[in-house]
Amino acid sequence: MKLTVKKDISTLKAEDTYCIFVTDEQSRSWTDRIHPSINEALSSIDTEAVTGKYGEHFFVPLKKTPSLLVFGLGKNIDLTSESIRKLGADLAAFCISKNITSISFVPPAPGNFIEAECTRFIAEGIVLSNYKFEKFKTKDKKKLIENLCVYSSDPLAPSIINEIQIIYNNTVLCRDLINDASYNSTPEGIAAAAKSLASNKNIKCQILGKKQIEELKLGLLLAVNQGSARPPQLVVLSYKGAPSDKSSIALVGKGLTFDSGGMNLKTSGHIEDMRMDMAGAATVMYAFKSAVELNIKKNIYAVMPLTENMISNTAYRPGDVFTAYNGLTVEIGNTDAEGRLILADALAYTVDKIKPSCIIDMATLTGACVVTFGETVAGLISTDEELTEKLRKSADRTGERLWPLPLYSDYEENMKSKIADLCNTASEKNSGTIHGAAFLKNFVGNIPWAHIDIAGTAWNTKARGYRPENATAFGIRLIVDFLSAL
Ligand code: BES
Ligand code: MG
Ligand code: ZN
Repeated sequence: MKLTVKKDISTLKAEDTYCIFVTDEQSRSWTDRIHPSINEALSSIDTEAVTGKYGEHFFVPLKKTPSLLVFGLGKNIDLTSESIRKLGADLAAFCISKNITSISFVPPAPGNFIEAECTRFIAEGIVLSNYKFEKFKTKDKKKLIENLCVYSSDPLAPSIINEIQIIYNNTVLCRDLINDASYNSTPEGIAAAAKSLASNKNIKCQILGKKQIEELKLGLLLAVNQGSARPPQLVVLSYKGAPSDKSSIALVGKGLTFDSGGMNLKTSGHIEDMRMDMAGAATVMYAFKSAVELNIKKNIYAVMPLTENMISNTAYRPGDVFTAYNGLTVEIGNTDAEGRLILADALAYTVDKIKPSCIIDMATLTGACVVTFGETVAGLISTDEELTEKLRKSADRTGERLWPLPLYSDYEENMKSKIADLCNTASEKNSGTIHGAAFLKNFVGNIPWAHIDIAGTAWNTKARGYRPENATAFGIRLIVDFLSAL
């Protein structure tokens, strides 16, 4: 989809659909704001019937002059950033259902919202829901919206729309990578996608293959990889947006391209969607790419450990002990707790080689996180209050919600092993999300660190507002907002 900003509404074409938003308060005066170019449409609508109720809509399809779509925004007092995004999503869903491919709107400014905010929230809602994964469909493909034009003379509009275009492009790439079959989104496949980012001269991409991973002794990544016929990869993307600044941010993403559970094999009902277990890696990669394209003046890294977790004659087993990159030994309590293993090595490697000023990891780490928060809130566990605060503010602004969980020392105690330094499973069965984080804490040294468990939010079992079914790319806007505000 292509997004544009235009000032002059008389450029509206006959094939366009012009969308207007009406609040409850405006329901008696809404026609005053309509440009004469769609007078034709206006004459065939019962203007009295428009009440401005949230989600209410009227459509006047016309061939020779622009069509009109009137959407109710509800009462000013009930409007929130999320309800406006949701309305954008409803609008997009309506247009897709009617095969409308070219839409335009004049941003409203109801209640306490200014025009720039509405431009952002409506456009976000539209673009984020304008998605279908149809790579494997040979028929019944849906037509998506191709053009979105905002008619505005607000000086903020062009940069907002440019940003949303970048977010849209990268959200589509991210969702496609997550939704694709695990024989396409393999460790080497994802590394190749990362490498293609380096065609942008501001991005450097380093790919470590199996031999280098062996030489560097990332023993936990190798352990998880043991059962897989595909070699592991460790990808490091870097961008120096502030060359004279010593500080940097490292984003680390879990890249399990298929999680069978290993010897602790997952059962039916739990294994089907496990190609999504690389969502953390995909999300940090496309958040990173968005940040570069937005020229954010920060030094940023994206680190992605990539492997499958498979069952085979050579697979790692419960009771095995392996040595991590930082020298700690780890007993395998359960081969299905593999995400923390590959992340542990990637975090320790990041601390040692990059020495960033802060680390944020994103991972589909625990089923417990889905039980706790469902599919609309991610778990946040951090060693740094300031980082927690900043991430929570970004969560509030973007609607990519986070909620903090505590990391008391008892949880860390539970991760100790009787036969090694650590065990990848806890000695107590509850609070799985916190225990996963407690394990990871052993690999981040003293660097301020935040762990975001996206097990629930990365993948929707059904469409929810502007997030479609299956891969959501949750976290891209959160991280981009965090980096811009830093
Ligand atoms: N990839 C899973 C977590 C997951 C579950 C993600 C459901 C998305 C949806 C992870 O590798 C896993 O299997 N975790 C185990 C850990 C346990 C064995 C300590 C879990 O959560 O059951
Ligand atoms: Mg697992
Ligand atoms: Zn996993």
